[in-house]
Amino acid sequence: MDLVPMADILKKADKEYYAVGGFNINNMEFLQGIIWAAEEAKSPLILQASEGAIKYIGMDYVVNMVEAAVKETEIPVALHLDHGSNYDVIMDCIRNGFSSVMFDGSKYPLKQNIRLTKEIVKAAHSVGVTVEAELGQIGGAEDDLEVDEKDASFTEPDEAEEFVKKTGVDALAIAIGTAHGVYKGKPELDFKRLKEIKARLDFPLVLHGASGVPKKDVIRAVTMGINKVNVNTAFQQVFTAKIRELLDNEPELYDPRKYCGPGRDAIKAKVKEKIKVLGSENRA
Ligand code: 13P
Repeated sequence: MDLVPMADILKKADKEYYAVGGFNINNMEFLQGIIWAAEEAKSPLILQASEGAIKYIGMDYVVNMVEAAVKETEIPVALHLDHGSNYDVIMDCIRNGFSSVMFDGSKYPLKQNIRLTKEIVKAAHSVGVTVEAELGQIGGAEDDLEVDEKDASFTEPDEAEEFVKKTGVDALAIAIGTAHGVYKGKPELDFKRLKEIKARLDFPLVLHGASGVPKKDVIRAVTMGINKVNVNTAFQQVFTAKIRELLDNEPELYDPRKYCGPGRDAIKAKVKEKIKVLGSENRA
């Protein structure tokens, strides 16, 4: 099966009240663990690579690895750029076959975010590529992107309505109290704000920084209209914990397949858990 535009995956999720995982790939083991889990769960899937991951893996490797993985599967899969901030990288992703890109202009004032996002939408839509944007600033750290807690700000429903109308984006990442990476305290999600935004924008909303959010809160957010849930840290943690455990127990181990393979299995198990919570099982 070929890659599909993320908009198609999200439109169905929005209509049928579930969410699809935007799961980050950091290397081949992540890609395989994630896609094998989604395949077994018969779930649609959004594979995403950040600018940092593309730099680490290489653009050709990302695209060719994903194409090889997608060829083997029947589930709908989108390849999405996570937190694109650099115009050249975004265009490079579009040219190289990504079926979706995120432009994160959340650090800019509203007018400038609208103007820049509009330019990306024009280029992406002309070749059938989906665009996700962000409004409000999500705190925490993701790759090189770091937003201090004091600079994080929640999405304003009025601004969200204006932003979507003026830019024509396909999905919007909103800031309602989640943070990227490991949480310092207990996350408090602003469900009232989510309800207001969804009432005004009857279209796909995205929740970033979902790794440390309690299961019941993720389920509540999904039932209230979140259709894409991003997870990266939780997979990094289980992969590394498994490898650490194996190397600690067997210091003489040197064959990477003997620890990366179990690391990949740990990611696969965690992805399956997340898919169940999001309600995307058997929706492919
Ligand atoms: P976590 O790393 O906190 O899971 O967040 C992932 C994310 O939002 C990617 O955009």
